[in-house]
This record gives sequence, structure tokens and C-alpha cells, in this order.
Amino acid sequence: MNKNIVILGTQWGDEGKGKIVDCLSADAAYVVRYQGGHNAGHTLMVNDEKIILHLIPSGILYNDVIGVITNGVVVSPFELIKEIHMLEKHKCFVKKRLFVSHAATLILPYHIEMDLAREKKLGKQSIGTTGRGIGPAYEDKIARRALRMEDLKNEHMLSMRLEEIVEYYNHQLVSYYKQKSINYKKILQDLIPKIDFIHDMIRDTTNILNEGIKQNKKIIFEGAQGSFLDIDHGTYPYVTSSNTTIGGVITGTGLGPKHFNCILGITKAYSTRVGHGPFPTELFNHVDKHLSKIGHEFGSTTGRKRRTGWLDAVYLRKAVKMNSLSSLCITKLDVLDGLDEIKICTSYKKNTHGLKNTLHSNISNQHDFLRPVYETHCGWKEKTLGIKKIEDLPYEAQNYIKRIEEITEIPVDIISTGPKRSDIIFVRNLSYNK
Ligand code: IMP
Repeated sequence: MNKNIVILGTQWGDEGKGKIVDCLSADAAYVVRYQGGHNAGHTLMVNDEKIILHLIPSGILYNDVIGVITNGVVVSPFELIKEIHMLEKHKCFVKKRLFVSHAATLILPYHIEMDLAREKKLGKQSIGTTGRGIGPAYEDKIARRALRMEDLKNEHMLSMRLEEIVEYYNHQLVSYYKQKSINYKKILQDLIPKIDFIHDMIRDTTNILNEGIKQNKKIIFEGAQGSFLDIDHGTYPYVTSSNTTIGGVITGTGLGPKHFNCILGITKAYSTRVGHGPFPTELFNHVDKHLSKIGHEFGSTTGRKRRTGWLDAVYLRKAVKMNSLSSLCITKLDVLDGLDEIKICTSYKKNTHGLKNTLHSNISNQHDFLRPVYETHCGWKEKTLGIKKIEDLPYEAQNYIKRIEEITEIPVDIISTGPKRSDIIFVRNLSYNK
């Protein structure tokens, strides 16, 4: 059996994947980003230093781990270089052990302008994007007009293609969105001096990973965003533009499904969502204040306040099924410390007819008609921060975990009880799908 682990979010992102990737990467050979771009924000606390990674995989902080950004990722060359330099300031040197797929789509300044212009025009109907140009870059990819990493290697072609694409964008930006036009020569001027720096990092990353697999090396695949931000399976249109669910690993890396049989879903002990869109268990009371304050629920990419709510087990069960999760990791359990009671949404009631759906119900996009039905659990007063063994957790916290296992029908293998690497409970060895 291979040792590879896929780590993905089961909610709307910000589940704490970065820390878990970091914790499981100590003995890994490769850590891999396979979708999304620098819209992600993975926060790590190492030796009391806070490091936020947006594009480079989190496991890179271990000196002998190789970082791989595959074809499914949308890459801003400017952000990539900025992040490499940021890591150097933390004495983490990655340039020689970070590879980017030749087929990864480039994010360039016109994508960002377009993202912002669209959101502005949508007004109250806006998606609440991170403004990083993610949607327009993926659109270019699907429309087969994108510039890719490999295009950086041919300056003449790059210049010609850039001129064409910018003309296309300027037409929309100026005529439709009433924004200023963009000068392709300025983009080229900024881009060309950066090419030398990244030239040698551009590789066939599928080959690199296949070689690792052949040598039986451990590979960690780090998902970005969460299952319900998936372009196909999420709360459309309030989603990101990539496949954040399990299929994204396959298309994003070029590896076949037999290499992924440890699929670890990360879920917060409660729910959060940043940006707009349905969020049935959202709270607007003192519990929201508690979760925001104690959980520091502010976006690590945009600084926006995250919306907070109780754990939604209807969604969580759906995430288990659609990703074939082998087990769960529950993060931020300590944030629930001190609450009198804790709720889990186990079904929905239809607002109009009072009909109850069950845990097995399908979630459609008709969220406005659904009201969550909760079961209530006793809270605990003791601190769970930093506890290392499950049997040392308060009895009520142990019951909460057991109930999540019952509802989801998969084991909870890892519990995170604080922001540091050491604040973690390994309940058992990671589960694998047979
Ligand atoms: P985009 O990915 O910037 O296009 O944003 C689309 C939606 O996904 C917005 O609601 C964002 O707030 C959300 N989103 C994108 N990346 C993340 C993330 O890493 N964590 C949480 N939400 C995200």
C-alpha cells in the first residue's frame, strides 16, 4: 500500500489544513499543491513565529521536503517570487527544492483587474472573491487562451500572445466594465526580469511525482479551499473556480486514482465561511462573538471577518461521501472550551411545509427554504488547549468527537487543540481506504 495522503477541506475552507499538512510532512518526500492559487491562506505557527503561505505547499518548512505546484494550480509569478523571499526571511530556503508545472496557468494583472471589476459590477450579488484573479485565470484555461508557465520560456511568443490577450481584456474592461485599460508592455516589462528567477523551477511535475511513487516515497497532497467551494459540487455560484474535492487531485496532478487511498478530511469543530453564499447554521449571537474572538476568525488572505456557525453534519456527511474520505481530522476543538452548550445540525426542515429531511437528504441550492434542525450537547469548562491524549479531554469533548464519528461513519484520527505544531492528538494511525 502506498503512503500518500490527500488532505482536503470538508467545509468552506479555512479548516486548518495548513497546520495538519505541516504536521504530517515531517517524514514526507514531497508536498503538493494541485488546485487553486494564492487565494488560499495556510497559517502555520512554528517556534512562535506565524507564517502564512498562499501558494507554496505548507510542508515546505521541513528542509528536506520537495515542494511541487502542479498543472491544476493557477500561479501568479509575482506572488510566487514574493512568497519565496518571505520564506527566506524566515531562514527557509526553497528555491532549489520547489518545482512548478510547465502546464500551470499563469495569473497576470489583467485577471486581477477583471476579478475586481466583475465583483464591483455585481454589487450586492457579488461572490465575495479574494480579488486574486482566480476565476478569470481558470476561465482563460478553459477557453484555451491562457498563458502557462512554459510560455515564460519563449519571450517572443510571450510578447505576441500577451498583446492579443490584453486586447481581448481591454475590450471588456473599458467597454463593458467602464474601467481603465491595461498596457501589455507594462506587464511584459514587469514580468521579464522575473523569468530568470523561476526558469529552472519549471518542470514536468507529473514525471517528478511518478518518479517519487516508483521509489515508494511519501507524498502529501494539500488541498486548498473546502469541498463546498468546489465549482461542480459546492454552493454555486458562491464557489471558487477549481475542483476542491477529490477529483481535483487527479486532474490537477496527472496521477491516477490508485495512488490516493488515505484521504483525510479536515473539519473545524464548528463552521466558518468567508465571502457570500448559503450558510444554514450561521450564528449572529454571543456564540458568534465567542467563536470569532477565541478562534481568531479573520481571513488570512483578505483579513475579512469570517462568518461563524455550528457544525453542519448534513454537509459534513456529504463531504465524506463525495471525497471517499477515509477519516477525519477535527481542528480548533479548543475554541469550543467554555461554551455551555454545543449544537450539531443533523437535518433540515423545509421552511414552507415544515417537512423534515434526514441526514441523508440531498443539499440542493434551495438553501433559503431550509432551516437547520439541531441536537444539543453539553459543553465543557476545562481547557483542551494543548492536550495530547484523547482520554485526557473532558468527558463532554470526548462525547462530541464520538458523536461526529457516529454521524459521519468514519473515524476521527486526528484532533487539533491549538495553533502550534505540538497542539495535536493523534488518536490512532491514519486510516486507509481498502
Ligand atoms: P475566489 O477563489 O477568490 O474566486 O473566491 C471565491 C469564493 O471562495 C469567495 O467566497 C472566497 O471568500 C472563497 N475562498 C477562496 N479561497 C478561500 C480560502 O482559502 N479559504 C476560504 N474561502 C476562500
